[in-house]
Amino acid sequence: MQNLDQIAEEAAAAFAATDDPDALEQIKARYLGKSGRITELLKGMARLSPEERKTAGAAINRVKEAVEASLNARRDAIRRLALETRLAEESLDVTLPGRGESRGGLHPVTRTLERIEALFGSIGFEVADGPEIEADFQNFTALNTPADHPARSMHDTFYLQDEKGQPARDILLRTHTSPVQVRYMQAHVARYADLETMPEIRVIAPGRVYRVDSDATHSPMFHQVEGLWIGENVSFADLKGVVADFLRRFFETDDLQVRFRPSFFPFTEPSAEIDAAYMSGPMKGRWLEVGGCGMVHPNVLRHVGIDPEKYLGFAFGMGPDRLTMLRYGVNDLRLFFDGDLRFLRQFV
Ligand code: DAH
Repeated sequence: MQNLDQIAEEAAAAFAATDDPDALEQIKARYLGKSGRITELLKGMARLSPEERKTAGAAINRVKEAVEASLNARRDAIRRLALETRLAEESLDVTLPGRGESRGGLHPVTRTLERIEALFGSIGFEVADGPEIEADFQNFTALNTPADHPARSMHDTFYLQDEKGQPARDILLRTHTSPVQVRYMQAHVARYADLETMPEIRVIAPGRVYRVDSDATHSPMFHQVEGLWIGENVSFADLKGVVADFLRRFFETDDLQVRFRPSFFPFTEPSAEIDAAYMSGPMKGRWLEVGGCGMVHPNVLRHVGIDPEKYLGFAFGMGPDRLTMLRYGVNDLRLFFDGDLRFLRQFV
């Protein structure tokens, strides 16, 4: 029976030598499989006498049980080992400090737009918007901009293409927010059929505009905010008051001089550039252009069906990107649109 005990010991040693479940099953086959050593022993009993068979059978069965027991023990051990390894690998140190959630923030230009809306909202201006893909009529014609005006050239304006890939002359990316004036007035006229009693128009229109232009102070896409006030008694003095007051509130200082410099726009008459300068500090006396403005040209009112004999008003267009650069001291417009988080994070 020495031989049998040896088999059991050998098997136990072989099981113990592996920690791979597949290898373990292969070793098992060497002992308990169809032609495994214990199976062969059991088969061999056929050659024994009934007497011998009894003792041999009992002995072989004991060994078989011993081998099965050590196999099961090893199976359990391997399973436990695998679990422990996994637990160790996936262990979670609950005492580690959290990584923190990085919070998003509003883009600096968005902040400016929201400020502009709030400041104009506080003096009764509504906020309107219009399409960025615009028709020639609203972008140019209705704004009294003649066919030979340089703004209409392909050097300045992104025209869309027709199905044949040719520039479609009557559809373009709006070059300014002024077409929203036209759309807003058209809708207003349609809504108040009685033009004798229609309410005043007081609206701003912030949004993206597009021009063929790119350098430190020009980007092919930039922002504008349009303003329009149409009524029976709206004067250039109102324009000056509204714009100057807005700028002082926007920059949070009364230390600001605002100047209206005569200029030309097809859709206003008279027209002016709006310049601003600090009255003290390091920027003292440096005039910076922040927009254009003027009294709405009678032809514009006629194009939308408003009687210029009864109504008049002012309009302005300002550059929120410019205002943002001035407010935060940013010197390159492109920084706003590069999407570099190191830059943008500073405004959160
Ligand atoms: N649309 C003009 C531009 O893009 C800006 C402007 C000037 C708008 C005068 C106005 C205005 O409403 O009255 O250069």
